[in-house]
Amino acid sequence: MSPPAEYEAGSVPVARLLSAGAAGRPRLLQLGAGGGHLASHLETRFDMTLVDLSLRMLDGSRRLNPDCRHLTGDMRSLRLDETFDAVLVFDAISHMTTEADLLATMRTACAHLTPGGVALFCPDWTVERFVPGASMGGIDGPERGMRYLEWTQPMIRRTTYESDFVYLLREADGTRRVVHDRMVLGIFSRDTWARLLAEAGFGQVVIAEESGRDVFQAWAAPGSATSI
Ligand SMILES: C[S@@+](CC[C@H](N)C(=O)[O-])C[C@H]1O[C@@H](n2cnc3c(N)ncnc32)[C@H](O)[C@@H]1O
Repeated sequence: MSPPAEYEAGSVPVARLLSAGAAGRPRLLQLGAGGGHLASHLETRFDMTLVDLSLRMLDGSRRLNPDCRHLTGDMRSLRLDETFDAVLVFDAISHMTTEADLLATMRTACAHLTPGGVALFCPDWTVERFVPGASMGGIDGPERGMRYLEWTQPMIRRTTYESDFVYLLREADGTRRVVHDRMVLGIFSRDTWARLLAEAGFGQVVIAEESGRDVFQAWAAPGSATSI
């Protein structure tokens, strides 16, 4: 939906938060890597393993990032017999809509970290930062094209909110059609994030602010400080 170039700016703080203090080319596991758009801006700095549930998304990422390793898997249950210097769950973490699923994903991240390794979780929103509203975007190819309007609804129900998407699709023969989609996404408070990260086995947790959003840095090593 968003071309790779739209992920470039976001990749800068992600790389910084993931590799603070790391030497060489750290091994990075990304869960829910999708079409690999963000990864395409990280793969020169990290040795990347990209995991996603969707075969179609992984196929797109393989074309974009032929040098990365690609694996099919569910971020809630994946267990590889290896560890990494860092684990990243970018926007895909917002697909975790219950505390149980969020905790399961945190446990996956913790299980794949070397001692001292860092995990980074980048949810679209936390309860404290939630700003419902509308935005639009799209891609205008020479033949096919797509424009979308995203409208995030203001209601939070338990641990979810809803975003409505209206897509206007132009086919190669010039015909246009409209498609409506509704996504139910997860949203949790900072306290819930901190509690679940501790329950998952993380030690130190730092809540950093990036472009008005909360991102969670968590280390596998023992510790207890939580700061912002
Ligand atoms: C918004 S896309 C990620 C786009 C990605 N950040 C990029 O740079 O291209 C969200 C992805 O999360 C994946 N996903 C959702 N639930 C998942 C799960 N339980 N395990 C693994 N991947 C999942 C979807 O298949 C989708 O590809």
